[in-house]
Amino acid sequence: MRTVRLAVVGGDGIGPEVVEQGLRVLRAAVDGEAEIATTEFRLGAARYLETGDVLPDDELAAIAEHDAILLGAVGGVPGDPRLKDANIERGLLLKLRFALDHYVNLRPTRLWPGVVSPLRDAGEVDFVVVREGTEGPYVGNGGAIRVGTPAEVANEVSVNTAFGVERVVRYAFEQASARRNGLTLVHKTNVLTFAGSLWHRTVDAIAPEYPEVAVDYLHVDAATIFLVTDPARFDVIVTDNLFGDILTDLAAAISGGIGLAASGNLNPSGAFPSMFEPVHGSAPDIAGTGKADPTAAILSTALLLEHLGMSEAAARITAAVTADLAARDGSPRTTAEVGDGVLAALPPR
Ligand code: NAD
Ligand code: IPM
Ligand code: MN
Repeated sequence: MRTVRLAVVGGDGIGPEVVEQGLRVLRAAVDGEAEIATTEFRLGAARYLETGDVLPDDELAAIAEHDAILLGAVGGVPGDPRLKDANIERGLLLKLRFALDHYVNLRPTRLWPGVVSPLRDAGEVDFVVVREGTEGPYVGNGGAIRVGTPAEVANEVSVNTAFGVERVVRYAFEQASARRNGLTLVHKTNVLTFAGSLWHRTVDAIAPEYPEVAVDYLHVDAATIFLVTDPARFDVIVTDNLFGDILTDLAAAISGGIGLAASGNLNPSGAFPSMFEPVHGSAPDIAGTGKADPTAAILSTALLLEHLGMSEAAARITAAVTADLAARDGSPRTTAEVGDGVLAALPPR
């Protein structure tokens, strides 16, 4: 039987709560096909507050030895003064994405049958955002001078390389070709002219290799309009790191909520383990109450299995979530009850 070496970073707040349910479903889905051998890494704001560590080098190296990573959420209460210098998001989450070369941040969005969208008439919502994961304004390549004075200047520099843009655009074309042949580049080429030009030229250069894919372009501000007024128009969106971050919270909101939004930080080459996580954060406002919806974490395990080539088990998780969501009657369920519901709906092999 195959063994999957899985690094598990539950993290903070609701992170460990939703990961627990994700692991239950993951194990059940691969029963008889694979063994999930987990190594837990205690990382996040709580660990930092206790020990001062964010992501020690030896732990990063140990994580890199695994086949995949399942992460809950990291980060404390926004604004907590004790975390001011910790930089958990950059020093932990982004460090993992960068060090493990997760250049595709794949964020599928579906309005599942039975789920109510806040949009009156959402139509058929089924698209994926291919968010670049290792460049853009996230690289931390800025700086500030005269900090704290009236003459302070703070720069955040967006880095876009031909290599980095090409590989993610290529991945997006592959996705579009395997789906409904629609690719929308989202950027802000009218203002961010240097990066915008590179993204545009890259898409134009690759497009002839995929004649079946219809390519269009939207400025990011207009994209937010269409995500609300006509989300059904989207199949694959390819965009930079920051635009992708913002658009995928909006995408989650229109498709029934952040508790349903899954993601994969992919290193498609397989040189490094890919990392799967809900799009949401540690939700300190509901941590410990049992209110967190683990569906996003559970769906993230389906993306994980798909990535590892266990498509049949992945499809059974997706089917179980579909059935569970369709059966919800609106009465609140605890985190564990949702896990129970999905497990009960898991189709037999
Ligand atoms: P958040 O996603 O944690 O919470 C936003 C809102 O959504 C809250 O009201 C929360 O209760 C709700 N929510 C989130 N997940 C939910 C779920 N599964 N079920 C039901 N409701 C859910 O965003 P935030 O408050 O901006 O961030 C909190 C902390 O998490 C911060 O430290 C932030 O940096 C961090 N964060 C981490 C990640 C990550 O680890 N990938 C992602 C986003 C934010
Ligand atoms: C996400 C989060 C992260 C991001 C933060 C916590 C660094 O918002 O995964 O969407 O901006 O990528
Ligand atoms: Mn985000």
